[in-house]
Amino acid sequence: MTRRARGPVSRRALLTGGALSVGGAIGVAAASASRPEQRVPEVSAANFGGQMVPFYGAHQAGVETPAQAHAAFVALDLAAGVDRAALRRMMLVLTDDAARLTQGLAPLADGQPELAHVPARLTVTFGFGPRLFDAAGLGDRRPASLEQLPAFGIDRLQERWSGGDVLLQLCADDPLTVAHAQRMLVKDSRSFATVRWVQRGFRRGRGMQDDGVTQRNVLGQIDGTGNPAPGSPMFGGAVWTDTGPAWLHGGTTVVIRRIRAELEQWDAADAVGKEFAVGRRLSDGAPITGQRESDKPDFNAKNELGFSVISEFSHVARAQVGEDRLRIFRRPYNYDEPPGADGTADSGLVFASFQRDIGEQFIPIQRKLAEADLMNEWITPIGSAVFAVPPGCEPGGWIGEGLLK
Ligand code: HEM
Repeated sequence: MTRRARGPVSRRALLTGGALSVGGAIGVAAASASRPEQRVPEVSAANFGGQMVPFYGAHQAGVETPAQAHAAFVALDLAAGVDRAALRRMMLVLTDDAARLTQGLAPLADGQPELAHVPARLTVTFGFGPRLFDAAGLGDRRPASLEQLPAFGIDRLQERWSGGDVLLQLCADDPLTVAHAQRMLVKDSRSFATVRWVQRGFRRGRGMQDDGVTQRNVLGQIDGTGNPAPGSPMFGGAVWTDTGPAWLHGGTTVVIRRIRAELEQWDAADAVGKEFAVGRRLSDGAPITGQRESDKPDFNAKNELGFSVISEFSHVARAQVGEDRLRIFRRPYNYDEPPGADGTADSGLVFASFQRDIGEQFIPIQRKLAEADLMNEWITPIGSAVFAVPPGCEPGGWIGEGLLK
């Protein structure tokens, strides 16, 4: 994959000078600008660390991209007085630096440019939260169903994991790459916004299993089988927005729910109970009516007593939808924080779901799960946030230009 030349220095220098209030930063940018473009000396494309995902394109990367091993979801709150023009400046700088980082190139004001040289399939995906539209005087452009989710009976939401005006979803196959990208992009945004929350997540390390296998989550379940396949027409119809405000066409929306897993209780349940709650087997992810992971669950199958083999209250039965366009695409990460003082686990999912429209797709599923899902005994939503994810951009463009320019 080729690396792209960055935009004109003058534009960037102007932006950096205008955006940063810290005097020294301008000096750093100027010094970096005079450095020749660095090659990526530390890693070849034969290593996972050298692999790159194109930044530019019709859609932002990090949605259809096969999930990388590590993620940081960073929510920012806009500072008071940040209007549309300021937001535009912030997105220009963030886009420029994100594009560079994903291609193994250091941002101009990078004090530690060597850390950028292992891109490891880094993707940076930006989202805009509901409050941003009012703050920036763009209330009439907010997608109708982009608002914080209604309260569900199962929710035990904490402020510290909820809300946010701007999302940076950073994913890569290496945690140091993610940490460096986070530091650079948060630094860029400092004059405009404060960090509201950061949620780190992980999946299996790259190379631990064949690419493309459906991974297990921290509960040990094979998780992702029922997703629309990336690249398929079904995926496009369910995920890429084609109705509502024109600036979001080719974009999508994301719901991020921090869902705690009650692992002690889960451990205490037997395998039959766990499989009954989901409707799929733990060993291979096959429906309990089938043989293989790819088999369709048979919701009409009855046991010898005439009861449904897959309970109508199982997670997969509750999460079914009638039409492909109503599906959601789940791209969750696991979290595992230090245990509480009593030694109980603090683990679960940073559950990220992408869909064209939150009101049409996510909310009806979440409502049915909240009403009656056998899995609710073991899972508790403790954070909730929603963002519109603008379409991608071409070289020379920037993310959010359809909304902000
Ligand atoms: C910690 C929380 C959760 C866990 C551990 C979990 C686990 C699972 C598992 C093991 C499956 C079956 C395999 C698969 O198709 O991926 C599944 C399916 C699914 N889940 Fe969840 N899930 C969680 C939360 C949610 C939430 C919050 C939603 C949406 C509101 C959701 C929506 C779905 C959907 C749509 C399916 C596929 C159903 C189908 O069409 O077959 N899940 N989940």
